[in-house]
Amino acid sequence: MDKHIRRLTIADYDHILKVWSDAGLPFKPKGRDSRARMAVEMAAPHCAFFGLFDKDIMIGMAIANWDGRRGWVNRVAIDPEYRGRGLAGELIRECEKFLESLGALIICALIEDMNFPSMDCFEKEGYVCMKEILYFSKRRSPEV
Ligand SMILES: CC(C)(COP(=O)(O)OP(=O)(O)OC[C@H]1O[C@@H](n2cnc3c(N)ncnc32)[C@H](O)[C@@H]1OP(=O)(O)O)[C@@H](O)C(=O)NCCC(=O)NCCS
Repeated sequence: MDKHIRRLTIADYDHILKVWSDAGLPFKPKGRDSRARMAVEMAAPHCAFFGLFDKDIMIGMAIANWDGRRGWVNRVAIDPEYRGRGLAGELIRECEKFLESLGALIICALIEDMNFPSMDCFEKEGYVCMKEILYFSKRRSPEV
């Protein structure tokens, strides 16, 4: 495997959707995952999209986002053929480096309660689950 990680740009948009799709991650192309919105996010200094490549093929990705108070690691996804090699951990650490460079003292992730591979993966990277916290969100529409 000829592996490298680099920052993604909007030119990588179609490949990002392919990685999410292959990884089984749902996305909202008419909402927050539209090309236009992702272009804005990618251009923001507090946000970094990282892609993991085997040669020139994107086989994983993750998003690091600093909200001014906490750092977030989102959308970690690895192509099923490349799982179990520690690659998600490498992407998470790349996100952490970016977030710490912005001053993050706490880095968080939201994980669905049945997603055991993801929970195990974050725990292995030193994250502690707080089971007493529930996720609340308010949406303009189900599309977002
Ligand atoms: C979760 C995911 C990113 C892990 O990717 P990965 O590259 O296979 O993970 P790693 O090889 O870095 O694994 C690190 C640790 O995670 C845990 N883990 C990974 N896959 C696992 C599985 N299927 N079952 C249980 N634990 C698992 C293990 O503790 C593993 O450490 P070990 O190999 O020393 O046992 C990958 O399964 C994926 O893309 N899932 C679909 C998308 C998704 O749900 N993303 C998370 C959104 S929050």
